[in-house]
Formats: sequence, structure tokens, C-alpha cells
Amino acid sequence: MVPLKEQDLGRLKEFTDRAIGTGYYSNEEIQDIFQRSTPDGQPQKMCSFLLKRDDEIFGVRFTFPPGRWSHGKGEGLTPSRWPHTLSETGYFQSLFLDERVQGQGWGSKLSLKAVEVLASMGAKGVVCHSWKESPGGSSTKYLLKMGFQPIKEHPLYWQHVDYNCTRCLKPPCQCTAIEMYYEIPRGK
Ligand SMILES: CC(C)(COP(=O)(O)OP(=O)(O)OC[C@H]1O[C@@H](n2cnc3c(N)ncnc32)[C@H](O)[C@@H]1OP(=O)(O)O)[C@@H](O)C(=O)NCCC(=O)NCCS
Repeated sequence: MVPLKEQDLGRLKEFTDRAIGTGYYSNEEIQDIFQRSTPDGQPQKMCSFLLKRDDEIFGVRFTFPPGRWSHGKGEGLTPSRWPHTLSETGYFQSLFLDERVQGQGWGSKLSLKAVEVLASMGAKGVVCHSWKESPGGSSTKYLLKMGFQPIKEHPLYWQHVDYNCTRCLKPPCQCTAIEMYYEIPRGK
């Protein structure tokens, strides 16, 4: 597991097209994710991580620190139901693993690395949009195991994202997002 670096960006689009769906991220959005993964471009505070072996990308955990995000890819966010404010909360943007390494706990390991960095900058919580229809319910299962609490369901969350969802195959995506919140334990 390694922090995201600028030299990885060129190979990330091929991975996100395959794992998330063609067109989910453009090259410009991947550049933007890199910029927004740190507060003010400090490389020692990189919140996004990759799972890499022999230079091959096997997983991504994109994460934004508080103050560097205000919404996800789709529509639906309810800060009024969170235990902490938007300005105290980081965002888990996307976590995707290659099929060959799913079900081995890497999702939680990558996410805990990101939580460590968020905690070091004083974040009080993390919010995410869990993909309800993920294979075997893997998304919600790993989040519940980590201690995330469901906040609200958002049907058709990704309907306005012009991409080929791996489940729906063509736009518009019919999937549902479950907004979930994790309170970072004090002293972490
Ligand atoms: C979601 C994901 C990141 C979780 O990471 P992970 O390392 O696989 O998580 P875990 O090993 O803790 O597995 C979580 C659960 O999902 C199950 N699971 C994982 N991958 C699975 C798959 N492809 N098919 C069926 N079940 C799967 C595991 O058996 C485990 O179930 P259990 O808690 O009943 O034992 C990863 O499975 C993945 O990339 N899934 C597809 C993409 C996705 O849904 N991303 C999240 C979008 S919000």
C-alpha cells in the first residue's frame, strides 16, 4: 500500500475505466483527485492510497481531507444528520479493488491508512456513498465492519454521471448509494 504519487496518474485511468466503469473519471478528474487528496498540496499529508504490486495497480482508495470537498459524484448529501460538520469531515471518494484481490481485507486496510492521515490533521469523521448493488454487497459489508453507520439511501445516485457502470452497462446508472458516516475515534 502506497500513497498516491503524481507518476501514478497516467496509469490510473485504465484501472478506473476497468474497475469502476468506462468514463467514470476523465484524465482531468484524476488530476483533480490528486490535487484534492492533500490539504494545500502537502505531499506528507496524502490521503489517497494505492494497492500496487510490481508497478501494477490492484486497488485505489481516493480520499479528500476536510475543506477539500463539498459533494460526491452524484446528488445526495445530508450533513444535518451527521455527528460532525462538513468542515470537520473527510470524504471517501472511491474504493475499488481488482477482482483478483477482493475479499482479502485490502479494502479496510487501505481505508484505515487514509483514516490515520485524516486523524493526524484533526478530522473528526469520514463520509462516503456506499454502492448498494456492489458484487456480493461487498461495499456496505466492509464499511459496516469498519464501523460506518448508514445515514440515508439515495436511489439513482449516479444517474447523471455519463459512464458505463459495470452493473448497468450503459447510462443512466440505476444503482443506489447509501450515505454512511464513520466517527474517527479520539486519539487515533
Ligand atoms: C468493496 C471492496 C473495496 C471491499 O474490500 P475487500 O477487501 O474486498 O473487503 P473484505 O475483504 O472485508 O470483504 C467484505 C465482504 O465482501 C465480500 N466480498 C468481497 N468481494 C466480493 C465479491 N467480489 N463477490 C462477493 N462477495 C465479495 C467478502 O466476502 C466480505 O464478506 P463477509 O464480510 O461476509 O466476509 C471490494 O470488495 C471491491 O472493490 N468491491 C467492488 C467495488 C466496490 O463495491 N467498491 C466500493 C464502491 S462504494
